[in-house]
Amino acid sequence: MGLEVKRQAGALGAEIGGVDLAGELGNAAFDAILEAFHEHAVLVFRGQDLSPEAQVAFSRRFGPAIAHVLEGFRLPDNPEVFLISNEVEDGKPKGAIYAGQYWHSDLSYSDRPALGSMLHAREVPGAGGDTMFASMEAAYRALSPTMREILSGLSAVHDYAHAYETVFSKLPNRPPMTEKERARVPPVTHPIVRTHPETGRRSLFINPGFTRHIVGLLEEESAALLDFLFGHATRPEFIYRHQWQAGDVVLWDNRSTMHRAVADYDMTEVRHMHRTTIGESRPVR
Ligand code: OGA
Ligand code: MN
Repeated sequence: MGLEVKRQAGALGAEIGGVDLAGELGNAAFDAILEAFHEHAVLVFRGQDLSPEAQVAFSRRFGPAIAHVLEGFRLPDNPEVFLISNEVEDGKPKGAIYAGQYWHSDLSYSDRPALGSMLHAREVPGAGGDTMFASMEAAYRALSPTMREILSGLSAVHDYAHAYETVFSKLPNRPPMTEKERARVPPVTHPIVRTHPETGRRSLFINPGFTRHIVGLLEEESAALLDFLFGHATRPEFIYRHQWQAGDVVLWDNRSTMHRAVADYDMTEVRHMHRTTIGESRPVR
């Protein structure tokens, strides 16, 4: 079958045409998609209409589907589908509203971070509500050989509670984590430079959302270096910014990218997305 692959930005992102994800997808077609995924890190499929079952089935071809820790926003019949939504029903939010409004890589705070994630837009605002993706491979390649050498031996602590302290605590309706929740997400350590298991390419693996500090450095040293790296990695030339249309399916590689939601849209307009998370990938140096 003829898979159309159209790059969307200099560093990452490609639109895939000529495929109906709800239909039968043979192995040859899937292999072509997988190859494009490894090449471009963010894949965009426009004009799709996937049932939750079909989205989970497509996700599973990349790896195991992981149910989100927040049980309240899972689809009852499809717990692997998580709702990101600003809709309110009978005074209760239908889904996670303030999801990902800071640069992060999904589940980097766990010892087996997510390999990929998939969002299927069901309803989108008339303007705004984009999602930005940053190529951590392009960012790594653009560093000096000396900086790459320094980073290659370093590790960083990732901690879900870091996002609570820096971001979530400022949001409405976000009570602090309970002792039990905290115990489920202890801090973990990952290499700062990881090698992609499929492509062999290196990328930075740190993010402002969950990376607390660099192991072995003074707090000030760590903060200064992380600050530099976050600023560097989010330079415009490493970014693909996705403007959503209803029916879009976007799949991204969490191993080699960061992403963030842009909260610039009119909150009286609905933004409703179905999200699946694909496991799992322990970073290797
Ligand atoms: C996510 C996420 C961003 C968005 O689903 O992991 O960060 O734009 N979403 O909804
Ligand atoms: Mn995310």
